[in-house]
Amino acid sequence: MPNICVVGSVNMDLINRVGHHPLAGQTVRATATDYAPGGKGANQAVAAARASKDGKSFLVGAVGSDSWGLQLFTSLQASGVDTRGLVTLEGDTGLAVVTVDAAGENTIVVVPGANALVTRQHIETMAKLFVQCDALVLQNEIPREVTLRAMELAQQNGVWVLWNPSPLENVDEELLKLTDLLVVNQTEAAYFVNHPVADVAEGEAAAQALCQQGPAVVVVTLGVKGVAYADVFGNAETVPAFSVPVIDTTGAGDTFVGAFAVAQMEGRPDALRFAAAAAALTVTRPGAQAAIPTRQETEHLLKTGGLPDRQGEQGW
Ligand code: RIB
Repeated sequence: MPNICVVGSVNMDLINRVGHHPLAGQTVRATATDYAPGGKGANQAVAAARASKDGKSFLVGAVGSDSWGLQLFTSLQASGVDTRGLVTLEGDTGLAVVTVDAAGENTIVVVPGANALVTRQHIETMAKLFVQCDALVLQNEIPREVTLRAMELAQQNGVWVLWNPSPLENVDEELLKLTDLLVVNQTEAAYFVNHPVADVAEGEAAAQALCQQGPAVVVVTLGVKGVAYADVFGNAETVPAFSVPVIDTTGAGDTFVGAFAVAQMEGRPDALRFAAAAAALTVTRPGAQAAIPTRQETEHLLKTGGLPDRQGEQGW
């Protein structure tokens, strides 16, 4: 059974539902508000745990010394995430202000809090957790030098590095060269290949081009247009998106990453479809971690093409 470790961010999400996103200078009234566990790193760790056969994953990161920190520890553990790599640092837990409109599309403003205080030393101390894993999963919500150090240690120990460079800031080719599996959306792909990636054909071309820049496997996620895959062995594939009702897209990309890490390390021939199905289920539900499906729910969508009855499923 593959072990997946995530090094990354942990946030409390303040979620506001609105009819439409405010324009610059405009005020809109929220129709509903909630606080719920989020953070790209934590979401990916939960997605990996729920996608895996043993229901477990590891997370290395930090929360603050406030009450949210404690809450997030508890909810991560309840989701099957091993939190031995998570530390509490003096100060605030990361906060993400998420606004979701009637179409389910979001905007997110992140206040890094403890995520910005994670150090190289923390990673070196916690490396014992991930050097025995099959894959290390990273994003871009903690300091760059920390991500870099984790990648170096993973590579030195023969651990696959899966990088999801989101949000797209302060990224560069040094990180790309240390990456074995790259998962990017259209905007991120366009940044690295230096031209727009608007459709499946351009997604395929971008995935193939990015395989020449370091990663052995590249996946470009294209939203409702599906997913494009390429690897250094010359394999290429595209998978259409599942057609589902969209309630909230928050965390769908993170779910794809966590589920893909598990499926790829298991050697599943349908790894792309498995990850696409998990991400599709996430958009049918509100919130980030709360929306992430179990392995059984994802298998249900793959087998039947229909949405699982959430009430009857394990973990809900
Ligand atoms: O990808 C979604 C996540 O981005 C949210 O949960 C929020 O915390 C931000 O990190």
